Amino acid sequence: MKKDTLHVVSHPLLAHKLTILRDKNTSTKDFRELVSEIGMLLTYEATRDLPLTEREVETPICKTTAPTLMGKKFAVVPILRAGLGLVDGVLRMVPSARVGHIGLYRDEETLEPVKYFCKMPKDIAQRDVLIVDPMLATGGSAAAAIGFMKDFGCKRIKLMVLLAAPEGVQRIQTEHPDVPIYCGAVDDRLNERGYIVPGLGDAGDRIFGTM
Ligand code: PRP
Ligand code: URA
Repeated sequence: MKKDTLHVVSHPLLAHKLTILRDKNTSTKDFRELVSEIGMLLTYEATRDLPLTEREVETPICKTTAPTLMGKKFAVVPILRAGLGLVDGVLRMVPSARVGHIGLYRDEETLEPVKYFCKMPKDIAQRDVLIVDPMLATGGSAAAAIGFMKDFGCKRIKLMVLLAAPEGVQRIQTEHPDVPIYCGAVDDRLNERGYIVPGLGDAGDRIFGTM
């Protein structure tokens, strides 16, 4: 794993919340709320390089100039289903973002991603894109999603996940070295069924209560 495109967000609140997510006894309601909160914390880091300009503002005391976002076009793209759990956290940080959806599921035998849905804002090629999914395991789903966004003409793409396996990080860094990865932790490995170890289990099932 190379360090230059991998950003492991280190913060005590995030580490604490991730540990509760890992706990198999955490309820669906708490799991869903925590995914959203961690989504907000990760977005804070993933948007650190958003460009600023200045504008005039009148405070109750005097006129001044103060920083404001340049208003670059931004889109969040969840990988369905589990990625939906992160959208609300991103939108709370960037309320004007557009949302594109990519539906992928992992074939349980081959672990290869299968696409079943795709709907993007019309001007997606002009937007900065943040692809979100709780889990980067083999990296197959994220690599395919990044490939689709590049086919749409997107030039500035970031990937944001809660947990990553070294194998997934490696795959993204090899196939898409231009795409930075933001994550809460990099775990030890994948097991024989492609699950992240120690991980948190099946993120989609835990968010939507379909265990
Ligand atoms: C999970 C997860 C990722 C993918 C990661 O989705 O949300 O999309 O697996 O695995 P990979 O890195 O090996 O591709 P899943 O296929 O279980 O679908 P779901 O979101 O509908 O539960
Ligand atoms: N998808 C999940 O939801 N969990 C994993 O550990 C791996 C892939």
